Amino acid sequence: ARASLTIDPAFQVGEVNPRLFGSFVEHLGRCVYTGIHEPGHPAAREDGLRQDVLDLVRELGVTLVRYPGGNFVSGYRWEDGVGPLTERPRRLDPAWCSVETNEFGLNEFMRFVEVAGVEPMMALNLGTRGPQEARELLEYCNHPGGTAWSDLRRSHGHDEPHRIGFWCLGNELDGPWQMGHKTAEEYGRIAAETARVMRMVDPGVDLVACGSSNSAMPTFAAWESTVLEHTYEHVDHISCHAYYEESGGDVDSFLASAQDMEHFIDSVVATCDHVRAKVRSTKRLELSFDEWNVWYRGLRDPATEPEWEVAPRLLEDNYTLTDAVVVGSLLVTLLRHCDRVTAACLAQLVNVIAPIMTEPGGPAWRQTTFFPFADAARHGRGRVLRVEPHSTKHDTAQYGEVDLLHATAVQEDEDTVTVFAVNRATDRPLELVADVRGAGSTRVLEHRVLADPDRHSRNTAAEPDRVRPRRLDGAVVEGGTLTATLPPLSWNVLRLQ
Ligand code: AHR
Repeated sequence: ARASLTIDPAFQVGEVNPRLFGSFVEHLGRCVYTGIHEPGHPAAREDGLRQDVLDLVRELGVTLVRYPGGNFVSGYRWEDGVGPLTERPRRLDPAWCSVETNEFGLNEFMRFVEVAGVEPMMALNLGTRGPQEARELLEYCNHPGGTAWSDLRRSHGHDEPHRIGFWCLGNELDGPWQMGHKTAEEYGRIAAETARVMRMVDPGVDLVACGSSNSAMPTFAAWESTVLEHTYEHVDHISCHAYYEESGGDVDSFLASAQDMEHFIDSVVATCDHVRAKVRSTKRLELSFDEWNVWYRGLRDPATEPEWEVAPRLLEDNYTLTDAVVVGSLLVTLLRHCDRVTAACLAQLVNVIAPIMTEPGGPAWRQTTFFPFADAARHGRGRVLRVEPHSTKHDTAQYGEVDLLHATAVQEDEDTVTVFAVNRATDRPLELVADVRGAGSTRVLEHRVLADPDRHSRNTAAEPDRVRPRRLDGAVVEGGTLTATLPPLSWNVLRLQ
């Protein structure tokens, strides 16, 4: 199979916002407890954060972390998670049928943010709560002092304000599973009023309105349209969430999941711009793809077997090489839309549908999906170039004919261009030929590849390094043409200079 593309810095999509490489920590399963936080673990710091996990978070290159949910946030009282540990209440978490001890809360999260070197993205409860609680939380976090809420923060040992700049106005409120689920009209109004009140307290905050929970929701696009008619002038972003899985053995459709993500992004952009025209605004709304990943939802539904445990094992998907290639392809899509998608969060960070796994009292290791994310977060910085790949196509049940090659290119600096490329064919290599004369590239610095003869191979506690990226020889630039072989079912990083 063959593929070709042209790389020319004259044609650009836009600058990559570092927020594109975000992730997500929810009070769900073992993401927080025995994930990022485990006092008493041999690798735990004095504050209870696991140093081994922090090291992997840094290696992953995460820039932004959304917190504390997810479905959890729609029933959460943030006040339960601040102040002396002994006074914090244990509560039922109806979203995940678990018991929340509140040992970890806002200030512990802000400590994690600081040591992990990431930006916080705080989600508000607009399910069972409203503008009043939102502004109190904002005042606790961002007001310097001299008021009851800001002085409460100071009494909790945080003299300096947290200065949290990025806020989600609720989570998935279009979903009937959400506590405090709302119609688009109801949500649009409460989101607009919450945004107005928050801006009165802190005019500098960046606000994200909830879009649809996925593009298959019956209200998809109509929800965005109504919500934005109420909120357009008060928010900066609208959210998108999408999860993909292989079902019915249809690997080719699964490997083409990015087709759905493309359609999702194009549809939301169109809806935003339609409302922009309608409300006569000059502002251009950005997309926050603040939940995306591969997720095998059938694995265990806590609602059907509620056990009300603390930190139960939930959503602990063990990802295969195939899943990692899909994650790589979804990253390609996000990069290809970096002019409108300016924030994104791989859901989630540790243990729960996550690139990093841990055992309580035991090791931490990298799932297969860790590698494409780390590559993109490291080298997907700078300007995305507009490339139009052409390749052999194949037929898929869900998306019709799709290209075997899915690719993008990012110009990191004057001299360096990185091509991220996925070969979707499970049975054959792709011979890639790229015209790189425009970029002036003369050599291949590195061709890194994630591939494996067994597409079901995975990393586990017993075999944490079963799947790793490796360097491949053979890619060359000659006379302004790059030639490289992309192995069957592979994620490729080609760095050119
Ligand atoms: O990330 C897991 C869950 O997926 C989140 O809690 C929710 O927002 C989404 O449905």
